[in-house]
Amino acid sequence: MKKLKLFTTILAAAFVFILSACGTSKTSGGDGDKDKTLRVVTDAAYAPFEYQDKGEVVGFDIDFINAVAKQAGYKVKVEHVGWDPLFVEIKGKTADIGISAITINDKRKQTYDFSVPYFLSTNKIMIPKDSPIKSAEDLKDKVVAVQNGTTGQEAVEKLLGAESKNLKKFKDNNLAIMELKGGGADAVVADNTVIEEYVKNNPKENFVIIEDEAAFDKEFYGLLFPKGSKLKADFDKAVKEVMENGEYAKIYKKWFKVDPDLTEVKAKQK
Ligand code: ARG
Repeated sequence: MKKLKLFTTILAAAFVFILSACGTSKTSGGDGDKDKTLRVVTDAAYAPFEYQDKGEVVGFDIDFINAVAKQAGYKVKVEHVGWDPLFVEIKGKTADIGISAITINDKRKQTYDFSVPYFLSTNKIMIPKDSPIKSAEDLKDKVVAVQNGTTGQEAVEKLLGAESKNLKKFKDNNLAIMELKGGGADAVVADNTVIEEYVKNNPKENFVIIEDEAAFDKEFYGLLFPKGSKLKADFDKAVKEVMENGEYAKIYKKWFKVDPDLTEVKAKQK
């Protein structure tokens, strides 16, 4: 009788254990199982890092995460979910990795884990050629369009005040640029590479980019993981490896036509 009781107790414990295991492994492969395909989420409205081309998600980040995952021995599938949903999914562990030109910062680090940095960026100002704006200071009495929930929004809030009616926030950065084009804003503040590429590729629209190093910090992009993700160690290693073995340079050259200068990014990885 005693034995039977012990047996049922063990059985019950095993059952609870299996149940809880099911409950925590909500994602496809975040448990480190390399046979499962990892769910990678992005906001594909941020060319050239991630955007949609004939229904396909493409960009520097997409090639990069594919190379890194391959190096680490994982299969990945990238899906466009949007900027705010991306963070919700990583927090809720319905996705394994976020890649979206995401700046590593202390605020986000409270809720998420980041990989080592892989890209250097800074916010810059996009304005019409004939604009009187010369610096970040000049934005103070102007209407500025940003993507909601980005470091660009934070930077502009510091200048205009968080409650300012002159700060227009959009769900994605393309909508912010459209607002500028339509005359509803005097400037867009966003990651330099994105607005520099836009201006270069749309010369007839007569926009220019201005830099203000005093107002806008250096930023570094990282892969976003749920807090405590087991994937971080493997992906950190793989990020460094693709930077050493020429894969990163190949992808960088494909998108930016020049060789990368990785000095600052590598220094920041230490
Ligand atoms: N680097 C900025 C940030 O992390 C903007 C990134 C926006 N990315 C995007 N795919 N829309 O806040």
